[in-house]
Amino acid sequence: MLCVSIASCLLMHVQTGNTIDVPSTPPSTAKPVDPALLSVSLEFFAFPGYTQLAATTNCLDNIASLRGGVQPAVRIGGTTQDRATYDANLGIAVNYTVASPADAPASLTFGPQFITLASQLRGQVTLGLNRQLNNQPASLGAAVLAKQNMKNLFAVELGNEPEFYASNSPIIVAGGKGWNQDVDAASQKSWFQTFSSSARVGSIFQGAVTLSWTAGGTLSRLGSDGAALLKSLSRHSYPQSACGGASTNLPSLMNHSGIVSYTRQYQSEAAAAHAAGIKYFLGETNSATCGGGGISPTFGAALWIIDYVLQGALNGVDRLYFHQGTISNCAYCFWGQSSIFTPYYGAAFVSEFLGSDGAKVAMLDDGTSALGVYAVYTSSNVPVRLLVVSTNYFDGTGTRSSSTVSFTGLATAAGTKQAKRLTAPNAMSRVDQGAAVTIGGSASFSSSCARNGVQVTESVTVSGNGLSVSVKASEALVVFL
Ligand SMILES: *[C@@H]1O[C@H](CO)[C@@H](O)[C@H](O)[C@H]1NC(C)=O
Ligand SMILES: *[C@@H]1O[C@H](CO)[C@@H](O)[C@H](O)[C@H]1NC(C)=O
Repeated sequence: MLCVSIASCLLMHVQTGNTIDVPSTPPSTAKPVDPALLSVSLEFFAFPGYTQLAATTNCLDNIASLRGGVQPAVRIGGTTQDRATYDANLGIAVNYTVASPADAPASLTFGPQFITLASQLRGQVTLGLNRQLNNQPASLGAAVLAKQNMKNLFAVELGNEPEFYASNSPIIVAGGKGWNQDVDAASQKSWFQTFSSSARVGSIFQGAVTLSWTAGGTLSRLGSDGAALLKSLSRHSYPQSACGGASTNLPSLMNHSGIVSYTRQYQSEAAAAHAAGIKYFLGETNSATCGGGGISPTFGAALWIIDYVLQGALNGVDRLYFHQGTISNCAYCFWGQSSIFTPYYGAAFVSEFLGSDGAKVAMLDDGTSALGVYAVYTSSNVPVRLLVVSTNYFDGTGTRSSSTVSFTGLATAAGTKQAKRLTAPNAMSRVDQGAAVTIGGSASFSSSCARNGVQVTESVTVSGNGLSVSVKASEALVVFL
């Protein structure tokens, strides 16, 4: 690019003309925000290990303190829930052997101590139990104990991603009718009925738990009598996959208009769940399956989390449970044995935007550009914070562009507001590779997820009931109104 002067060069890189009116009350498109909108899913076999890490408690506490004391909910489950058999006589929480600490076990048992550890979590817990092995007495034993001992129990899952069960799975062989969504839904319903009619369990199930099969499809197959046994409907969601050598793409992951259109696919099944009187969750989600393909641990993925969580809420998703897999062998994890990873910065930042008083969120842009612009409103319908996320991809080379957004219609005529910025050198930046990913200029997290450094805010001038902010490509900013 040829620039005849510094001023013309700067002009080329500054997008202008984004003027956005802030509605003084939530627009009709605004949607409610669950206090635990951003929640976590812990891989079943790794759950006892997670309870040994100070980071687990601290990272969840940080989110809770940003959200007015409400802890993120925790789902314990994943692929290994369908490899796990409950053993009431096991003297330890979980028992398995693996060739390498990076592996997930092919088979495992768990005992009453596993349920005790789950009962100690501070948020609501959804416990994933096994259906694939067709050992109903074992899973029922665990469900009964969970119901008795876990005051924090929200729901119980029976089976994980049944569409991927191997054809020789005991549940399939025993049914003898092959396996498809109809057969699976009938199996789920029969298990829910058996478990709930044990008076000690009740109607506390999380249904579907599918990735490629729609959760709405399972809900309709369960019928209204099946739906009556549910607390929630769960769909799994990974926008990208590195499975089988598939390629991943960070500019596409973090692309605002792409996130808007991707997340819209959940709107109709969320509405169906709500019509049935139950919650709708992305009950296991993260950026890219099968190791993340290099994009999951990046700053771009942190920005994706911000936009994706808010688009989830706007499409009727009550909670998104970000999956945490094998400890320290997990590209998309928020934390590990001794590090806090870059995606957590996005989780913390969107939690700060939603805050302790965020009751409704609205998108203020039209969803077609790279700039996501949001407002959050209190329960008394007052806008309290604005968020701008620039999903323009900056790879660290050349000049970093910036965008100016002008807001009008503020309640304050003139004065100063404060803003806080989430930034990093570029979209590929990784804290675990030493990059300076910061909230408010210098703040970060220690290896045990304690907050480090002082977060500074930037002053923004208000005049004529409006203000302007500037965000660089691959950066986000919250304005406190
Ligand atoms: C764990 O499993 C192994 C292999 O089956 C077994 O030898 C061992 O006794 C088990 N540990 C406990 C505490 O039950
Ligand atoms: C972003 O998403 C939109 C809509 O899906 C698409 O047209 C555009 O090409 C995407 N851009 C990038 C960089 O992926």
